[in-house]
Amino acid sequence: MSETLHRKVVLNSYPDGMPKPSDFRIEESSIPEIGEGEILIRTLYIGLEPRIRLMMNPTNEENKAMRPHGAMTDIGKVIPGTILGAVVKSNNENYNTGDVVEGFLGWQNYIVTDGKPHPTNNPEGVVVCDTSLGEPVHHIGPLGAPGLTSILALKHEGKLQPEETMVITSAAGMVGSIAGQLGLLCDAWVVGLTSSDEKCKYLTDKLNFDVAINYKTANVEEEIKRACPDGVDYFFDNTGGDLADIIKKQLSKAGRVTRCGIIANYNKTGWNQSEQFSGQFSVHNHVDEYSEARKTISDLLRDDALEYELKEFDGLDSAPDAFIQLLEGKNIGKWVIKVS
Ligand SMILES: NC(=O)c1ccc[n+]([C@@H]2O[C@H](COP(=O)([O-])OP(=O)(O)OC[C@H]3O[C@@H](n4cnc5c(N)ncnc54)[C@H](OP(=O)(O)O)[C@@H]3O)[C@@H](O)[C@H]2O)c1
Repeated sequence: MSETLHRKVVLNSYPDGMPKPSDFRIEESSIPEIGEGEILIRTLYIGLEPRIRLMMNPTNEENKAMRPHGAMTDIGKVIPGTILGAVVKSNNENYNTGDVVEGFLGWQNYIVTDGKPHPTNNPEGVVVCDTSLGEPVHHIGPLGAPGLTSILALKHEGKLQPEETMVITSAAGMVGSIAGQLGLLCDAWVVGLTSSDEKCKYLTDKLNFDVAINYKTANVEEEIKRACPDGVDYFFDNTGGDLADIIKKQLSKAGRVTRCGIIANYNKTGWNQSEQFSGQFSVHNHVDEYSEARKTISDLLRDDALEYELKEFDGLDSAPDAFIQLLEGKNIGKWVIKVS
């Protein structure tokens, strides 16, 4: 379906804690024209990512050091986010009409861009996807930033040996579920934490995790001791907060930690972001390894050695509600908005 209007989701108000639908609004205008060096992209999918919540806050003392190149959004501006799209017009020799591309470009159905990287949030710029590696939508899931984060964090920080223990928070999410399966492929003993029995069942029954712990109902300290009596060799932390503190106390002598995300804080104020993000793993520091990592993940998907859940929501208007539900912990795997 090709639409006749440019439609975008913009920030209507700064959220106070968990975002509300009224913090977003849809704006419509005519489809923009491209200038010299630019392309017009028709969005196919938007990938929902928890970190967008942090970008919806006003710039203040807590976060200004994290924004050396300015805020990614503000009142009336488009909500940022990763998209998969098709080039429909091109004045740029790097892109041809019909190319399938991926980039950090925002919640909108049409986008004009020059494809260049953003210095803090998108070091690769708009990438032409190699569709021989898998279905196009994989490029905002396992072949995109979430999958690359899992595989490159394991490579650089996990360095798992057979029979080592690995513990993952937000284990049923996109990054966590891929990281855990990669741990299993290293013959590690893999323990996942998540917030419901349904999600625990997904980890053990579908992904073959050795242990899944419902951190909302279990005594986490005791359950981690039971699952990893000799300590945790590798902690892949997606959430930070109190949960992470309990697990970090049980690291083995050789224990390593990947500080991947701080979801527990994303809806909160009163924490120093640059301090807490300092020393965190960043997939952006490994752009030169993306191509090899994408090939490895593609091979694993093709051999059915990796699996992931994908849920599609229909239409741009569904993005705010779906995003709120993601932050509420309703997702398993990757949630995407099918735009056109
Ligand atoms: N460092 C990097 O380069 C890099 C790159 C990409 C992503 N990340 C980070 O990786 C993490 C995972 O990303 P993802 O895209 O796969 O998202 P995700 O894990 O699917 O995120 C949503 C999940 O977060 C969990 N969650 C929400 N609020 C929470 C809270 N207060 N405490 C604990 N858990 C909470 C919920 O899972 P439960 O049901 O398990 O609570 C929810 O289903 C995020 O922190 C993201 O920012 C880092």
